[in-house]
Amino acid sequence: MTENKSIFYGRRIGRPLKSLNKGLLTHFFPKYELIFPKNIEEKLDPKILFPTATTFSLEIGFGTGTHLFSQAKGNPNTGFIGSEPYLSGVSQLLKNLQEEPLKNILLSLTPVQTLLTFLKLYSLDHIYILFPDPWPKARHNKRRIVSTPMLKVLKKYLKPTGKITISTDHTDYAGWMEEAFEKSPFILEKTYFLETHKRPVHWPITRFENKAHLVGRPCKVYELILSKT
Ligand SMILES: C[S@@+](CC[C@H](N)C(=O)[O-])C[C@H]1O[C@@H](n2cnc3c(N)ncnc32)[C@H](O)[C@@H]1O
Repeated sequence: MTENKSIFYGRRIGRPLKSLNKGLLTHFFPKYELIFPKNIEEKLDPKILFPTATTFSLEIGFGTGTHLFSQAKGNPNTGFIGSEPYLSGVSQLLKNLQEEPLKNILLSLTPVQTLLTFLKLYSLDHIYILFPDPWPKARHNKRRIVSTPMLKVLKKYLKPTGKITISTDHTDYAGWMEEAFEKSPFILEKTYFLETHKRPVHWPITRFENKAHLVGRPCKVYELILSKT
């Protein structure tokens, strides 16, 4: 996988968008939109995007934004970039932001692979990928976003002390991820299940975690840190 390749296999919308959601996307989204520079050589520097923040995070595939909103609200000194092409999800987050505006969130509807090509290298402290699409059919496995090549790309955007948090409720994808971690520049620092571990702060149950609970699938979390070698 190269950084320039934009890959998105999911849906842009669920049910047809209600006029309220369309209105939010048209009129309210620009307030939170991450604007890409016209020239690809000009990189987006989180320090400039969030001048008062001291640390910077990226959430890939934030869905309806439950986790992103809560993290941003609970960590006002962290600047959060969210990447999500699924418009129905983004409009849910915009509803929350309309009720409770936050200054430390910027959003992109562009697949993360494209977003990264505009982002300054070694600028992030934390990357979250919560319940990525599992693509269960063998012929679709290569669409999975957590892979060794992707982890190698993500490494270039993290500071040396940077971390990645990944969760999944899909057993086959969990095994696939564990193999990818072994061949990646990361060390698996911690693994736990959301059901039995003390719940991480500012991480409310997301839409896809809730779906997993409803059918009794355990939700596994991986905390990765950069290997020193
Ligand atoms: C299974 S959902 C999980 C959503 C949310 N994290 C949750 O826990 O409810 C996976 C999300 O990843 C998004 N996604 C898939 N490919 C992506 C990409 N290349 N860049 C950014 N988001 C992506 C999808 O649109 C989808 O909303």
